[in-house]
Order: sequence, then structure tokens, then C-alpha cells
Amino acid sequence: MLGKKEKFLIAQSLKKDFFEYQSVAGLHIREQEAAKMNLSESGKRLRYFTLRHLSCLIWYIEAHFPKWNKKSTHLAVIFLAIALEEKIFQKRPMNALLSDLKDGLKQISQLWIAKPFEAICFQAPEHSEEFFKILVPIAKKNNPFFKEVLNTIGSTSLLCFYEHPPLWLSIMPWNQTKIESPISTDSIHHPHLDAYYLKKNSAFWRSLQEQGEAFFQNIASQEYMHVLCNVLLEKMDLSSQIRILDTCAAPGGKSLALIKNTYRKAKIHIDAFDIDPQRAAEYARNIEKTLPFQKIIYSIQTHDWTTAYEKAQQPAHCVLVDAPCSGSGVIRKHPDILWRNCIDLNLLQKKQLQILNNTAKHLTKNGILAYSTCSILNQENSEVIALFLQENPQFHEISLQPAHQPSSQWKKEQYGWCCLPSEEYDGFYFCFLEKSH
Ligand SMILES: C[S@@+](CC[C@H](N)C(=O)[O-])C[C@H]1O[C@@H](n2cnc3c(N)ncnc32)[C@H](O)[C@@H]1O
Repeated sequence: MLGKKEKFLIAQSLKKDFFEYQSVAGLHIREQEAAKMNLSESGKRLRYFTLRHLSCLIWYIEAHFPKWNKKSTHLAVIFLAIALEEKIFQKRPMNALLSDLKDGLKQISQLWIAKPFEAICFQAPEHSEEFFKILVPIAKKNNPFFKEVLNTIGSTSLLCFYEHPPLWLSIMPWNQTKIESPISTDSIHHPHLDAYYLKKNSAFWRSLQEQGEAFFQNIASQEYMHVLCNVLLEKMDLSSQIRILDTCAAPGGKSLALIKNTYRKAKIHIDAFDIDPQRAAEYARNIEKTLPFQKIIYSIQTHDWTTAYEKAQQPAHCVLVDAPCSGSGVIRKHPDILWRNCIDLNLLQKKQLQILNNTAKHLTKNGILAYSTCSILNQENSEVIALFLQENPQFHEISLQPAHQPSSQWKKEQYGWCCLPSEEYDGFYFCFLEKSH
């Protein structure tokens, strides 16, 4: 049971998260702030899950109480959102949550609003499935970006936006630690990739990471990199060094996967870039941590690839463009994406195309341009490739041999391959292009 004081603290912090930091606050950043708040375990849980569901709880409230004065009732609305979270997702009894709601409203002298708020609580469904069914038309009306996502994904998968993202640990080939039962009872080994699906993150798995023997990466990205490396290893001359240009590289997941998949099979050199100096520093930390005994085979610099890179640079055999995107495939990892009413898909597409045009110039003849996003929207994926090919006829899509094709989670698009979010997978897209001259 949470005390009144703790609940008030949670409501105040959620108000900041939602109304003041909407467009900039990543869930993990807000979580770091919450760690300083000295909340009890149940307080932390309530805050975390209310935060995950906040955008849709507020849409629901707005639809049922359209007259609320947004300015003067901010905190009151957060109290209501908490009460709804407790009813719909945490199965707390009505009398307890209504009494807390009233207390909260009393503390901020907004008791006048208690009656309509209580009515909303009574009306609200008791199951999350029912809640999301009601929410779909409301969400579509409130957020054009979400409407786009729902049209692509189908509303049946809506729930997977709000669950924890699955935890997949990618195991490095130089791993020395034996992984066997009973550890395997809290994990599932992927049938083809050296990766473990963790039911819970234990001290054992954390120690693998700390020792540089493993790193976390969604299985869609891991499968993508596995496919890319198979193509690379087949097409490239393995007797000489393969130069990789990783253009949007931070925090380094794709580079690490590249190193993993080519270990002892090819000599690679990675020139990595990122627009953001802090993220570039994080990239270096992650690579160093995971490669404690390996020779340094990379460089990291900052550059904005929407502009040309003029410094002399040896052409690369493979250019990775893991492009900035809307993140429509990873909403459950970054639920704050739904708070950003300002996602402009046209602008994103323009940026993605600019980055492709500027990076493609750094490829050798017969080199591979690997484009990927964690979006499921055609506008950021196949459409971008179609526009790029119109402007760059010296490129064509590499058609994957059956042995190299990704698993049945993936669907072939006009250009490239896309997988939708599911229980195990995040939404992801990739396409490989070859430069013929
Ligand atoms: C999807 S993330 C990359 C993830 C990374 N490839 C990995 O696997 O860990 C996109 C990255 O692109 C960077 N970025 C955004 N716009 C950029 C630009 N114009 N030029 C270079 N990097 C950019 C962002 O800072 C971000 O780190």
C-alpha cells in the first residue's frame, strides 16, 4: 500500500514527465530521475507502468471528459490517470483507488472535479484488452502518426506496444562462460543465432555483459546483422581487409554484431560516425567494454550525414545506414514516441534520403549499402529506397538467395524486408543495395 505522500510525489513527477518534457523525455531518462526519488518498490512499479501507459490514459480521459481545463487541472488529470492505471492494469479494488483519487484532489483543492472523475473510473473497463479496443478509434483521432502505425500493424497487435520489450542477449564468439541449466530454465536459446531470450535478467547474465562476453540487442537487429554478414562474407574478398563505414553508429549495437558475426572469418576495419558527440562517446565505451582483449579496429567521429563528408577517406566495401527514424517499430521500448505529436514523416524521409545520398558516395564499386530503420512505415523504408534508386541508377537491390533470407517473421517489401513487432521481435526494416559502377 502506498502512502498519500508517496502517491502525491509520483503524481507530481508524472505531471512533469507528460506535460513539461513531452517531446524530449525518453523513458529511460525519466526512470533515472525517478531513481533519485526514494520510492518504495510498489511506488516504483506504479510510476513506471503509469508512465508507459500515460499517453493512452490521457487520450482516454480527454475523450470522456472533453471539457477539462488543461492548465488548471494538470495534476488532477494525473491523479485520474493513476486511478485508471490501477483499475485497468493493476487490478486494484475500486473503493481503494477512488478513495486515493479523492484524497489527491482534495490536497490540490480540486475536489469539485471528483464526481465526473469517479464516473470515468466506474465506466473504465477492467481489462487491458477491452481498454485498448476502446482506445483504437480515440488514438487514431488524437495522433495521426499513431493512426499510420495502426494502419500498418493492425489493431490486434496493439497490446504489444505496452508490454516490456523482450530481452535478448547476444553472445560473443569468444565467450568463455559455460551456459547450461539451471540457467537455461530462465532463458531460451535461439535456434540459429547465438542469442538468449531472457525471461528475467539475473546476476549471471549481467556478469556476461560486464565481462564483454555478451550485449543486449533485439533479435530483429541480430537477425538483420546475421543476414548482412552472410552476404558480406560471400561477396567480399576475405584475404584482404573489409572496410566498413557505420554512419549512424551509436550506441554501437550494429558494429558489435558485425564484429561478432565476422570474428575469425574476416579482417574488418570500422569507421564509425554519429551526429551526437555524447552518443559517439557512448559508442566508444561500448566497443571498448565488449572488446577488452581485442585489437582496436575502429575509429569514431562526429558528423552530420545530411551534409557531405569532405575529408579524405578510403572508400568502404560496406556502408551501414541505420537511419534516424520515427521508431514506429519500437514503441514498447520508447512509449514516449506516442507523446510526440510532432513526428513529421515527410521531414524524416527527406533526412533519410539525404543521408543515403551522402554516404553512398563513399562506397567502392560492388560495395554494399545496407539501409535499416526501426520503423515499420513504408514511407521511411521502401519509399526511401525507391526515391534513392531513382536518383542513383548505378545501384540495385541485392536479391537474397533462399539460404540467406531472413526467417518467416519477415515479409518482402517492394524493396527490402520488414518485420512487425511481435512477442519476441521488435519492428524493423532493412534493404541491401549494390553499387554496380
Ligand atoms: C537508430 S540509431 C543508431 C543505432 C546504432 N546503429 C546501433 O546499432 O546501436 C540512429 C543514430 O543516428 C544518429 N543520427 C541522427 N541523425 C544523424 C545524422 N544526420 N548524421 C549522423 N548520425 C545521425 C543518432 O544520433 C543515433 O545515434
